[in-house]
Amino acid sequence: MSKEKTFFVTTPIYYINDVPHIGHAYATIAADILARYHREIGDETFFLAGLDENSQKTVLAAEKAGKEIGSYTDELAGLWQKTWEKLGITNDDFIRTTEDRHEKTVIEFFNKVEKNGDIYKGKYEGFYCVGHEAFVKRDDLDESGFCPDHKTKPEKLVEENYFFKLSKYQDQILELLEKNPKFIEPEERYHEVYNFVKGGLQDISITRSTQKWGIKAPSDPSHVIYVWFDALINYISAAPERWPADLHIIGKDILRFHAVIWPAMLLSAGYSLPKKIFAHGFFTINGTKISKSLGNAIDPIKITQDYGNDTLRYFLFKEFPFGNDGDFSFERLNEVYNSDLANGLGNLVSRVARLAESLDLSGVEPKEKSLLDSAFRIHLDKLEFQQALDYIWDKIHATDKSLEKTKPWELLESDREKASGIVENLIRQIIEIQELLLPFLPDTAQKIKEQYSCPKIQLQDPLFPRRT
Ligand code: MSP
Repeated sequence: MSKEKTFFVTTPIYYINDVPHIGHAYATIAADILARYHREIGDETFFLAGLDENSQKTVLAAEKAGKEIGSYTDELAGLWQKTWEKLGITNDDFIRTTEDRHEKTVIEFFNKVEKNGDIYKGKYEGFYCVGHEAFVKRDDLDESGFCPDHKTKPEKLVEENYFFKLSKYQDQILELLEKNPKFIEPEERYHEVYNFVKGGLQDISITRSTQKWGIKAPSDPSHVIYVWFDALINYISAAPERWPADLHIIGKDILRFHAVIWPAMLLSAGYSLPKKIFAHGFFTINGTKISKSLGNAIDPIKITQDYGNDTLRYFLFKEFPFGNDGDFSFERLNEVYNSDLANGLGNLVSRVARLAESLDLSGVEPKEKSLLDSAFRIHLDKLEFQQALDYIWDKIHATDKSLEKTKPWELLESDREKASGIVENLIRQIIEIQELLLPFLPDTAQKIKEQYSCPKIQLQDPLFPRRT
């Protein structure tokens, strides 16, 4: 059970060289589920989302679109924000790294690290992959020198850069990991990071003298600060008074930045560390990696226009465990929509409402605050979204069974009192289900609440209409 009275959760801040796809929606919805859950149990919750704009990718994308960079970033930022709004994401703030509040915090942060003696000038020689926004090793490239993830040939750069003494923090990070085996989850990711740190940390270059777009290094404005050193600080710059975050939700692709570089930066600048980093898995589409060049990215809005927001939320977290890789297909989405939502939950709710209507039963008073049962809370506290959903669906099946067994419809004429007793009992079970559904299926939970709490319970529109 969570004893915390406050809860601060973050999503990755996404690059704006592209439009949002369901991969981005995945991490964002996960944070939204948790934020809604923590609000439901009465925690003072802060949910932060945002965009990573000071990247070289932004410059290239603006050029490609033939747009001036400022108007390109504003346009894309508007689109991302609109997408989250349409998906019903309840972030409390939205940070853009081009905002003044961010720049101010990055400069303060950089100055603190420098004052601590952790920044020095050096020469860097390496292959820079813009896709990764990082230097990659020759070994990570294929025989022809191409990055296997981005199918581009990283340039060999030789630059005078400022370096951050990451190596200095190796022992402290190892100690931190040893003392906090739950600092990184799932467990296999923890081991991955632990072994990586144990293998030795090298200093990293944190400025670029060949680029113009970004935040200027305070001590040498001919350099801009490396996009990751800048981007990670968003978690503080949005609301410095709330730091540290309880949880960073990220994908497994950006684990080292969050679990190694970020803690070292924080230790150097003298800030507290986040309490937990959870790296989720990646999903493919019909077995294929989501990629811009294949053009197979799916716009989450497209799904929700056909099926509603809740179907997307349910499917993404029901289909495979959070933390694992998985696959997305419209075929499975449709199957799950039919079996679990339209015919499962939807049918149960409307059958019981119809019975309540014929018995003229009055609505249920909405509760002030829900307490949610502890087995369910344990799953959510452990980010076991799939198990939490299974737990709710077990209750739905049990309620279905008890409806089938008690057959109240046969008693409507002969024993109205007994029928009312049975249906009232079913209503109580549905209300309990409604409370559990709230973080996962907020629109559906709201519809059930309205249907079951008006003066008289009435059959209303189906919970999960298909729009096409
Ligand atoms: N800008 C950096 C993050 C900086 S955080 C301080 C970045 N941005 S990104 O736009 O590339 O987004 C990466 C994140 O998007 C992943 O970590 C993951 O959460 C999500 N996903 C992108 N593709 C995905 C899948 N195919 N599957 C699941 N999630 C995916 O990296």
